[in-house]
This record gives sequence, C-alpha cells and structure tokens, in this order.
Amino acid sequence: MDQLKQFIEDNKQRFLDELFELIRVPSISAKPENKPDMIKMAGLLRDALLEAGADKARVMETRGQPVVFGSRLAGQDLPTVLIYGHYDVQPVEPLELWDSQPFEPEIRDGKIWARGADDDKGQLYMHIKAFEFMVKTGQLPCNVKFMIEGEEEVGSPSLKEFCRKNQELLKADIILVSDTTMIGTEIPSITVGLRGLSYMEVEVTGPNRDLHSGLFGGAVANPVNVLCKMIASLTNDKNEITIAGFYDDVLVLSREERDEMAKAPFDVETYKKEIDVDAVAGEESYTTLERTGIRPSLDVNGIWGGYTGEGAKTILPSKAFAKISMRLVPNQHSARIDKLFENHFRSIAPKGVRVDVRSLHGGEGYVAPIDTVAYQAASKAMEQTFGRKPIPTRSGGSIPIISDFEEVLGIKTILMGFGLESDAIHSPNENYPLEHFYKGIETIPYFFKNFAEMQD
Ligand code: BES
Ligand code: MN
Ligand code: MN
Repeated sequence: MDQLKQFIEDNKQRFLDELFELIRVPSISAKPENKPDMIKMAGLLRDALLEAGADKARVMETRGQPVVFGSRLAGQDLPTVLIYGHYDVQPVEPLELWDSQPFEPEIRDGKIWARGADDDKGQLYMHIKAFEFMVKTGQLPCNVKFMIEGEEEVGSPSLKEFCRKNQELLKADIILVSDTTMIGTEIPSITVGLRGLSYMEVEVTGPNRDLHSGLFGGAVANPVNVLCKMIASLTNDKNEITIAGFYDDVLVLSREERDEMAKAPFDVETYKKEIDVDAVAGEESYTTLERTGIRPSLDVNGIWGGYTGEGAKTILPSKAFAKISMRLVPNQHSARIDKLFENHFRSIAPKGVRVDVRSLHGGEGYVAPIDTVAYQAASKAMEQTFGRKPIPTRSGGSIPIISDFEEVLGIKTILMGFGLESDAIHSPNENYPLEHFYKGIETIPYFFKNFAEMQD
C-alpha cells in the first residue's frame, strides 16, 4: 500500500481530466431530450472500466436507461465486492444561479464545480481509479463487479427488475457505494441509515376555466386557496404529520440509541449559517439530527397554478397542483404511505373541487448493521486514511434501490460516502473538494484489503 499515495500523486491531473470528460456529458435522467447523452455516458463508462482493468465490461439494456456492468476475477476463493453507483444527474435549473457552467467543470478554491462533481460521477470515479490502482500494482484482493445505473435520480424504476433478471451475474458478498456524505474532512463518518420516500403529485380542479376574479371571487371555491389550506393541514402546530396512521410503523428508538446518536458532532449555528436561516424548524422534542435521521418528514417540493407571469391578471384559477414528498424511516412502507396519503388527501377536500392524487415514485429506507465484517473493514479503512475512527450516522437522504438489493439479491450494502453536506448536490454550484476525491481513491483499496483479510 506504500505505492498508493505515490500513485495518486503521479496521476492526479489525469484522474481529473478523465472525470471531467464524464462530467461534460449532461446525463440528466429526468429529461427525455438527454437520452443520447445517457447512451454516450454508458459507453464512456464501459471504456473507463476496461481501461482501468476490468476483464469484461458491457452496456446492458433495461426498460429505461442502460446499466454499465463490468467485472474482474481475482480468484475463485476470494470474496466479491459489487460497486454500485449512478451516472445520471439532476437537472441544473435555475442556470443563472451557477457561478460557472454546470457541465463545464472548473477547479476553484480546491474544489471541482459542476453538476455531478459529487453526486455521483465524482464519487463513482474514485472507485474506478482505486480499482485501477489495485489492478496495476497487482494488489487486487477481491473479485470486483461494477453496476452503474442511469436512473437513480428518478427513483431507479428499472433496476429492481434488472437485478431480478441478473441475480447470478450480480452475486457478491457485499455492495459498496459512495453516494452519501461524511460529517467533515476532520470527522469521518459512515452512513448507516437512509430514509425511504413517497413522492406524490396532487391536482385540485375547481371551475371548468379560469374565471374573472371580480365576477366570481368569493362565490366559487378557488383551487389554489383550497390546495394551500389542504397542504397546511397536513402538519399541526407541533410539526407532526396529521395523516391518520402515518406514524404506525415508525420504529421508536430507545433513549440509549438517541443518546448514542447525539454524540455525533453537530453545531446548529454553523448549520443555520450555511443555509442562511435564523432558526431551524421541525417536529417538536426532536433534535435536528433526529429530525432527518430517525423521523419522517413531509415537504412540498413545488406548487403551481393560476397566473404566475409578470404583472397582475385578475383570475380565479381553474386548477392548482403540488408535488409533495414524504421521507420515510425504516419499517415504514412507501406503498402503504402512498395509500394513506391519497385517502387522507381526498377526505379533506371541501365541496366545490375535485382532487386527483398520483404517486410518482417511492422506495424504502435502509439500516446497515455495524456488527459486520464489511462495516469493520470500512471503518478501519477510513481510520487508516483519515487518522480517526469514523462515526456511524443516519442520513436523511434516500437511495431506494439499496433496500431492493437486500430484498432481491440478499446482499447488504456499505455506504462509504466522501461527500460533504456543503457540496450543494441537486443545487446550483454543486462542488466536490479535491481532497475528498483523492482521499476516497486512497481509502477504497484499504477497504478491499481489510475486507479480504477479515474473512474468517
Ligand atoms: N446521493 C443521493 C442520496 C444521498 C445524498 C443520500 C447524500 C445521503 C446523503 C441520491 O443521488 C439522491 O439524490 N437520491 C434521491 C432519491 C430519489 C430521487 C428517489 C433523494 O434522496 O432525493
Ligand atoms: Mn447520488
Ligand atoms: Mn442525487
């Protein structure tokens, strides 16, 4: 492993050049017009895997965007690590808030600035380069498989079926993913919990057309007014969700577990400052880390209807819409929550409007056990490169396919992410510190080594 630091030092610029080539492809899975970019991205990744040392790599069709699969056999008796990542990214709007072009990566202040710099091209590419190191220096202690999808940011609609169809191909002892955050450069952590998700869209329809708000205002239910009231009633004064049965399956953590969680360093002042708010807000009697880590939440992601152009137009709109997501905690079930939400939302609609409720996508949360060889291997690896034992933390984010991996493939996942909460993923000016990119490349081979050595 002594060659590892030198290898990274000698290849720093090349790694960046290669990553930048991937970042320049606008692989936005949400937009149909970017379909050719998805195909291009998949081809580039297949080539990158082959160049890094994969025995085989190919682009595999799914119902949706293609999956890139590659592998290298190190020995029949050795354990197998399956690396999962995603090459698709979120849309970039609003463009005017970016300080540089989202798909023209730039280095400033020791960070890479671009869409996908962290989520997940930057983090995924660390694995390909760590793999290259292990292959080139003859230190690959495990069999390796890569499965890289292009639909994570739209809820992985095709990957579960892909896994079902390719169980044999995907056989592995552990899945390793870098698509999460750590607390800070000085405070390494490993994500051991993800939230699930129920994502709904609602449509409220009133009169058959936009009406003159003078002639009709005050006498006909206004769908935008109604929708706002309905949404407001979904939470109470304590910021609890009012949908009957919503909390039924939520696992309640013991006082000891909560005390353990509270040991993770967290400074609420820094947190507020970073996002420029003067107070945090959330469910009564829970801390901020608990509110995102172990409690569900409900948020309006977008709301529209009526006239939103320049100046005033005096209408009473015909329709109002909202996209509403609920982050779920382990043991809640997204299909059940979808139903509860739909029934509740219909039941609170007043006379004079019609309500339509659609589920856009959903997925389950995940809890990773820490009393496993894989967790110990990851923990030791981070300690070896960051000089400090990582803290297990629960993240508020979601990667719904992780629980499907366990269900369909029977394989657990280690979420060894190197992102920071300040990396602005999904936001304008997404960035990824170079230090984390290189530290990630350095840490991954230690995981492989530890994992191989720790097998009984
Ligand atoms: N990489 C993120 C999830 C993440 C980020 C988890 C940081 C923990 C810490 C992933 O790409 C993502 O954005 N997931 C979506 C899932 C959704 C589109 C189904 C999310 O959490 O909104
Ligand atoms: Mn991601
Ligand atoms: Mn994402």
